[in-house]
Amino acid sequence: MGVHPPLRRPALPPPPPALYTGGMIVLGIETSCDETAAAIVAADGPRILAETVHSQLDEHRPFGGVVPEVAARAHLDRLDGIVALTLDRAGIGFAALDGIAATAGPGLIGGVMVGVTTAKALALAAGKPFIAVNHLEAHALSVRLVASVPFPYLLLLISGGHCQLLAVEGVGHYRRLGTTIDDAVGEAFDKAAKLLGLGYPGGPALERAAAAGDPERFALPRPMLGRPGCDFSFSGLKTAVRHAAAALAPEDARGRADLAASFQRAVAASLADRTRNAAAMFRTLHPAGRHLVVAGGVAANAVIRAALDRVADGSGLALALPPPALCTDNGAMVAWAGVERLRLGLTDGLDFAPRPRWPLDPAAPKAAFAGVKA
Ligand code: KG4
Ligand code: ZN
Repeated sequence: MGVHPPLRRPALPPPPPALYTGGMIVLGIETSCDETAAAIVAADGPRILAETVHSQLDEHRPFGGVVPEVAARAHLDRLDGIVALTLDRAGIGFAALDGIAATAGPGLIGGVMVGVTTAKALALAAGKPFIAVNHLEAHALSVRLVASVPFPYLLLLISGGHCQLLAVEGVGHYRRLGTTIDDAVGEAFDKAAKLLGLGYPGGPALERAAAAGDPERFALPRPMLGRPGCDFSFSGLKTAVRHAAAALAPEDARGRADLAASFQRAVAASLADRTRNAAAMFRTLHPAGRHLVVAGGVAANAVIRAALDRVADGSGLALALPPPALCTDNGAMVAWAGVERLRLGLTDGLDFAPRPRWPLDPAAPKAAFAGVKA
């Protein structure tokens, strides 16, 4: 993986101290895809007291992608042990917790049910509030665990299931500015990696292969470039990669690296172009907003991070990037979303039903495609 620029702390006053005091401690559980994760976060600081992430890569590798039933079974087998280990690492028991949060959607429903059921059982047994966390909100708020980023901010959420631009106006308050009309960007990385025979998981493998490649070699389409608005599209680019990959000889490692680099550059250019338009929309909506935040697994990509750094500079926004480990799925972001909700008194009943689909901005029109969760 490339070198990740350090989190650039915006030159702004910190949020009011009242927000970050108080010894609130929350356990967060994440099981919506192929990471079984738990973490304990203290609002004071804020600090991650302990975290454990078990990636199910080995379980899914033989299938070349995440198999929902395999994922649900693996979450079920491991989650109790991971929660116990995380409490041990933090040196606390259930009694010290102020709340128990779990991703309650969107995501693979079998896994989500494992996490939610476990969290509810623990909440009931320990007499603690349960907090149902929207996985996308966990990504959206994760930056505030590591940097002083006040609302409102512009968010580019780029993951395996999602590709959206949102104005984050407060906890539970999101306005979607753009979304993908076909594939999510992480999905495009995974499919391109598969076409190039780079193995699984695709995103990091493609970034590694691209590091040795020539990004100028293949003239691939730059999806949506120059169009008004800030929606995304990646299916045309994927088709172009398929054709270019089919024309390469199987032993042509150089060609594969060049194609990976060209693909990565095309994606970065498209994301940058769309985000530039969104920044203009955001400045009209929220002239006082100062930050561009990037979250989700694809935000771990160094070439994309660098492209977005230039967009932020040109748009007069400070770029705030969570470190890569906080960009891919993890328990700390769920615990932190739990803290943000709990301190506003937003808890949930034990009858809360997991949601396979749970858009952050329910008022946004449905995108004209299927297959992306929000
Ligand atoms: O946020 P995440 O961990 O899970 C979802 O909620 O989807 O994102 C996973 C996605 C996968 O598609 C993965 O290939 C992509 O993020 N990804 C990357 C990189 N690391 C993870 N894509 C490009 N470059 C990377 N370094
Ligand atoms: Zn995610």
